[in-house]
Amino acid sequence: MHAPSSLSRLALSLALAAFSASCALPAAAHPPVARTPGTPPGIVLPPTDETVPPPPAWDGVAYRGGVVSVSHPLAAKAGADVLARGGNAIDAAAAIQFVLNVVEPQFSGIGGGGFMMVHLARHGKTFAIDGREMAPAAATPTQFVLSGVPANQRFVIASTSGLAVGVPGTLAVIDHALKHYGTIRLSEALAPAIEVAEKGFRINRFLAANIAGDGGRTGFQPETAALFRPGGVPLVEGDLLVQPDLAKTFRLIAKHGPRVFYRGEIAQAIVAAQQRTRTPTPAEGVGRMTLQDLADYQVKIREPIRVDYRGWTVADMSPPSSGGLTVGQMLEMVERFPIGDAAQGFGFGSPTTLHVMAEAMRLAFADRAVWMGDEDFVPVPKVGLLDPTYVASRSAMISTTSRMATPAAGNPLPFDTVLDSGKDRRFHPKHDDDEHRPSHTTHYSVVDKWGNVVSFTTTIESTWGTGITVPGYGFLLNNELTDFNFDPAFNAETGNPGANDVAAGKRPRSSMAPAIVFKGREPVLAYGSPGGSTIINSVFNVTLNLIDHGMSIQQAINAPRLSVTSAAGTISCEGVEPFMQPKFSIATQDALRSLGHVGLGAAGANGCAATIGSVQGVVIDLRTGRQYGGADLRREGTVLGLKRVKAHGPHPSKGHGEDETED
Ligand code: GLY
Repeated sequence: MHAPSSLSRLALSLALAAFSASCALPAAAHPPVARTPGTPPGIVLPPTDETVPPPPAWDGVAYRGGVVSVSHPLAAKAGADVLARGGNAIDAAAAIQFVLNVVEPQFSGIGGGGFMMVHLARHGKTFAIDGREMAPAAATPTQFVLSGVPANQRFVIASTSGLAVGVPGTLAVIDHALKHYGTIRLSEALAPAIEVAEKGFRINRFLAANIAGDGGRTGFQPETAALFRPGGVPLVEGDLLVQPDLAKTFRLIAKHGPRVFYRGEIAQAIVAAQQRTRTPTPAEGVGRMTLQDLADYQVKIREPIRVDYRGWTVADMSPPSSGGLTVGQMLEMVERFPIGDAAQGFGFGSPTTLHVMAEAMRLAFADRAVWMGDEDFVPVPKVGLLDPTYVASRSAMISTTSRMATPAAGNPLPFDTVLDSGKDRRFHPKHDDDEHRPSHTTHYSVVDKWGNVVSFTTTIESTWGTGITVPGYGFLLNNELTDFNFDPAFNAETGNPGANDVAAGKRPRSSMAPAIVFKGREPVLAYGSPGGSTIINSVFNVTLNLIDHGMSIQQAINAPRLSVTSAAGTISCEGVEPFMQPKFSIATQDALRSLGHVGLGAAGANGCAATIGSVQGVVIDLRTGRQYGGADLRREGTVLGLKRVKAHGPHPSKGHGEDETED
């Protein structure tokens, strides 16, 4: 049902009340739960009791021996091979990361960082290994105030200069994960990547497009240009890419361990490489990382943010990422609406659903801009931001009949029972948006035959990071420090804590949101996405698709997404690729415009032309133990599994009893 902009809120409530009273709603099959605070009168919410079935799995292909879902087939193969040799999900994740460094060098690698969410089946434990890049000891809050650089050039200049390079964490994450939870050695995890780097691989259309595009970032530095634009000509789809320097680096790490990277010859090469700068005043743009910064780097083990949403528990990344808190706020804000119920005017892709999602995004991004950062440096009111009363007060700002004026951040401090000084703390909200900065990254998910799960989002920040390839070592350096505030936001007058201002040793605020969803204590889903701040929205979209719209993991990934990444925000939406079905119609887009939304393009035209994220997920059907995967055609997403279960019908996940398997 469309909600015409002229319909008053009261009239809509009455209409919905009359509608729900006269219709047999699907929810009537189960006793409706007590109304969530703030649920509009007459709205019936879906039940959250145990009779709700798990989300349907990807029809057709089920496995029992483990599943990997990865954005590139060669990396997926490396992971599946590890599982086939008896390795666990952590081992597979390690092999996948190194091959991704070879075949998707533009998105992740040992020159970057990431968050690995892990569930260990035997211990029933879920935690995140934080391998976020770290600001060097010489970093300062004003380091991105560059003289003589126009505002609209600041990001590209800063992000392609050594100043943006954070101390890399990816290798430390993999090393930590393997040492503590894996069964193979680092050298074994590196072997497939060494082979692909030495023998070469055929460039796919995504890598080719990134080589040619992305503002020419592959052409800014000679080593990167030599690899990807030999003789000044960009490599194209189908060309063979061989990376002997990267293979050499991996061999060094295989032989000497991570020490050679953090304290040895590779550390020296990194420190030298980040002296490159594109700033008009060179001294302002050179990197500040020292050998000591590299030697001091350590991963941190973080407790995930956990949010209950309609009977499911979504565990997601805690600070320094904003991912878990922002996704969590959005879910809590929309829980009072029957998002999945077309009979009540919601359902997938309805203007009311999309409107409510966009409003929740705007509110959550307003809070994110002020309150979220590295909590080792700034107290982050994690409890207050997710407090039901606080979130209800934010959600109450969402009207179903019109777009709200630009919301300021709220004040969660009085609701924060952990930061107890909060009750006295003043905050005078003002609109405080982030700049929207382009970024990429990658995500993959793994489940093994024992039920261990890895959900890993990994990055060098922008596509191609800084564009600086470490000379002689063949890997790109990240520009992760550009995820910090470019101008210090700390303001004692307004109470802005400057949560994401640069500081020595601090980790820049991330949007990465590697999720694992639980029913009770059992993991049922793992997924995540790349895409800078749109990561949060991709994960939010897919979560609603799975839980509210009852889609399979593959349908949930294929469905077009909608994204708003700031309080003032404009809507980006998808709808170009043929697999994005059903698309958001032009009538739907016009209905959003009539509610006051901006950014969709001209009225009566398809403004949904973006590509948002690339989600790779796995599913465990708790009733049967079968495992499924879903992968994203927005990249070369690939699902590989072991011990394929012979299909017994149109929907194998509904079957019971013993499986027949074919290896
Ligand atoms: N590099 C993407 C993020 O951390 O949000």
